[in-house]
Amino acid sequence: MGGGGGYVTAAGGRGGGRYPPLSALVVCAIAAFSAVIVLAVLHSAYDAAVSRTRTLLGHNLEPTPWHVFPHAVGRPPARAALRCAPSVACLPPISRPPKPKPNSSSSGSGPRECPAYFAAIHRDLAPWRRRAAGKRGGVTRAVVEAARRRASMRVTVSGGGRRLHVDLYYACVQSRALFTVWGLLQLMRRYPGRVPDVDLMFDCMDRPAVNRTEQQDSTPPPPPLFRYCTTRDHFDIPFPDWSFWGWTETNIEPWDRQFASIKAGAKATNKWQDRVPTAYWRGNPDVASPLRMALLGCNDTNLWRAEIMRQNWDEEAKSGYTHSKLSTQCTHRYKIYAEGFAWSVSLKYILSCGSMALLIDPQYQDFFSRGLEPKVNYWPVSAAGMCESIKDAVDWGNANPAEAEQVGARGQRLMEDLRMDAVYDYMLHLLTEYAKLMDYRPAPPPTAQVACEGSLLCLADEKQRRFLEESVAEPAVDEPCVLPPPPPE
Ligand SMILES: *[C@@H]1O[C@H](CO)[C@@H](O)[C@H](O)[C@H]1NC(C)=O
Ligand SMILES: *[C@@H]1O[C@H](CO)[C@@H](O)[C@H](O)[C@H]1NC(C)=O
Ligand SMILES: *[C@@H]1O[C@H](CO)[C@@H](O)[C@H](O)[C@H]1NC(C)=O
Repeated sequence: MGGGGGYVTAAGGRGGGRYPPLSALVVCAIAAFSAVIVLAVLHSAYDAAVSRTRTLLGHNLEPTPWHVFPHAVGRPPARAALRCAPSVACLPPISRPPKPKPNSSSSGSGPRECPAYFAAIHRDLAPWRRRAAGKRGGVTRAVVEAARRRASMRVTVSGGGRRLHVDLYYACVQSRALFTVWGLLQLMRRYPGRVPDVDLMFDCMDRPAVNRTEQQDSTPPPPPLFRYCTTRDHFDIPFPDWSFWGWTETNIEPWDRQFASIKAGAKATNKWQDRVPTAYWRGNPDVASPLRMALLGCNDTNLWRAEIMRQNWDEEAKSGYTHSKLSTQCTHRYKIYAEGFAWSVSLKYILSCGSMALLIDPQYQDFFSRGLEPKVNYWPVSAAGMCESIKDAVDWGNANPAEAEQVGARGQRLMEDLRMDAVYDYMLHLLTEYAKLMDYRPAPPPTAQVACEGSLLCLADEKQRRFLEESVAEPAVDEPCVLPPPPPE
């Protein structure tokens, strides 16, 4: 207000008055200075709000100390973070009318058995099953808190399976957290009111952390930690990974859609007999994987019957993913699977081709890879003497084409049976069994944010939003498949 006016009146004043008098200058300076202060205060309030804003895209969260990664990629603009989280109001869930009872006479088929590998849920949760009377077991608040040390987020389902809260501790690489939480919301949509109330710790990074040997006979039981994979030597609990709902950074679509397109592509490309009679791998060797580096050395179709191609995701993104389309990669009779930094999401795409899959000594397991059987639905290749082992497998297959084709077909069948229906059934059974072991009533911690479809879509960029919307689940009309009993000890 005062600055300009003061100057004009002052200038029209006394004789020497070409310059504003000191008092006017002071007023002027104070005004300008307070404007700066107001701006600075606004700015720091904005900064503070942004730095308090923890979103599923990792804005302002540090990468996990146990698996650091370049941070800029996938961070939302601060504006989006402020707009969407944590303040976005998630509406209370719409209570749906109860489903009509399935008409047993019309559906006819009766209860369906889940695939046999669902039985691994019992083994995964065995450390928390109450054992001998008097010995404390189970999922206690204390063991869940103990898992926090290695978790990137805590997920709480409450309100009879209708509310989802996420407490974020660290950023996840790329859009893993966004798509994983979306997957949980879709489970709640598929089975309204049937997802049990649970409180669980989740790590979204690659490698398992709960060492089986160290925790074997410990009282209390080991910290229960969910992640995308485990090994025989770990107690980490495997859970379907984000790519089932889509992996935008590599242009991989939601799983049902991706499977259908690979299968159609495989059919259109070639009958198995007409495919190139060598082994093929295409991927990123630069993921701190000695196995993949060694695989580069087998790139010789005459000597080792193998073709190893390098995938550069940055270049692919620039060229619109024209060379990385999975549906055009079923050209060979044999497809190689090599683990990366840990398990690799590529396994399901490789098996989908119907080519015989050559798996190089897998160390990691995800939830469905426990359904793999050597020489039944894949062919084992040893990491020691890898190139010779690949050559032996290819030579065997070309000498026994009918059998090799069958191995490929059974691998594809395993993936056919792993449609999203089965993925949701697995999640439901796993959470239900886990909930049975909990000895306290789950409630979200005060720092947790409620997550709903609206808040996630608000955070997503255009491409993420497209994938999220494409992977919306339909409420189930059938009962979930029946979980096989625990295998006899
Ligand atoms: C169930 O099936 C029977 C026999 O097909 C039919 O008469 C009946 O209307 C069906 N009920 C519902 C709820 O669809
Ligand atoms: C688990 O811990 C034992 C004992 O500390 C160690 O020898 C082993 O290498 C660890 N296993 C893994 C998979 O890290
Ligand atoms: C493997 O060999 C082929 C044919 O010689 C070549 O085009 C390709 O670039 C090689 N792959 C790698 C990763 O060097």
